[in-house]
Amino acid sequence: MKILFIGDIVGAPGREAVKKLLPGLKKEFALDFAIANAENAAGGSGVTLKVVEELFAAGLDVLTSGDHIWKKKEIFEFINGEGRLLRPLNFPTGAPGRGWGLFKAKNTPVGVINVNGRVFMEALDCPFRTSRQAQEELSEDAKIIIVDIHAEATSEKVALGWYLDGKVSAVLGTHTHIQTADEKILPNGTAYITDVGMTGAYDSVIGRRVEDVLERFLTAVPVRFEVAEGNVQLHAVVLDIEENSGKARSIIRIQKKL
Ligand SMILES: [Fe+2]
Ligand SMILES: [Fe+2]
Repeated sequence: MKILFIGDIVGAPGREAVKKLLPGLKKEFALDFAIANAENAAGGSGVTLKVVEELFAAGLDVLTSGDHIWKKKEIFEFINGEGRLLRPLNFPTGAPGRGWGLFKAKNTPVGVINVNGRVFMEALDCPFRTSRQAQEELSEDAKIIIVDIHAEATSEKVALGWYLDGKVSAVLGTHTHIQTADEKILPNGTAYITDVGMTGAYDSVIGRRVEDVLERFLTAVPVRFEVAEGNVQLHAVVLDIEENSGKARSIIRIQKKL
């Protein structure tokens, strides 16, 4: 089973990269399933129904998210009705939407779990215990389980990789928007990377206009961050997973220029 996971899609340039590059990636890697983190897909922060529909139409099967999921108000109108869009599962009870789901690729069940870190981030429920719980429920129906750990601290992501090693097919980091070079298969068969990277403009500060972010750093005054446009790239990983065991055979990093 070949699964693509695309790192945080930032704004219109990121969506354009997905639309233009995904068909080629599907052919090149004989992909069976495609997941992307979409938390920054609408104007650089949050998602709208239109953007979500656009990304599914582009060929993505499941969208994950993160701390920016609630930024566009209309999310509350549609997230309960769209099971293919996940929000971090460790928001406290009562938050709308779902943090994990069971899907199908080539008639094979695929579980996807989305969880936020809480080091240098909002204090949510425990990402370790909640993702283990979701894994246990999904494991009743699926061998293949992909986890998006949306977190700031590398240590927290690395630790979750070890915690879920052998229990899920992959633990993939998002949120920091910088692809890390530590992709590996852990001893018990779980693919791991600390950050998949970003899909958007790379002449930027993690997808936003350099001038805006610099002004914020230089003055510490709130500044509106516009989405940057130059040097658009799609960053992702391709997983090859053994279907009977759910163990990963390989994880390959991808960086494609638009
Ligand atoms: Fe992000
Ligand atoms: Fe984030």
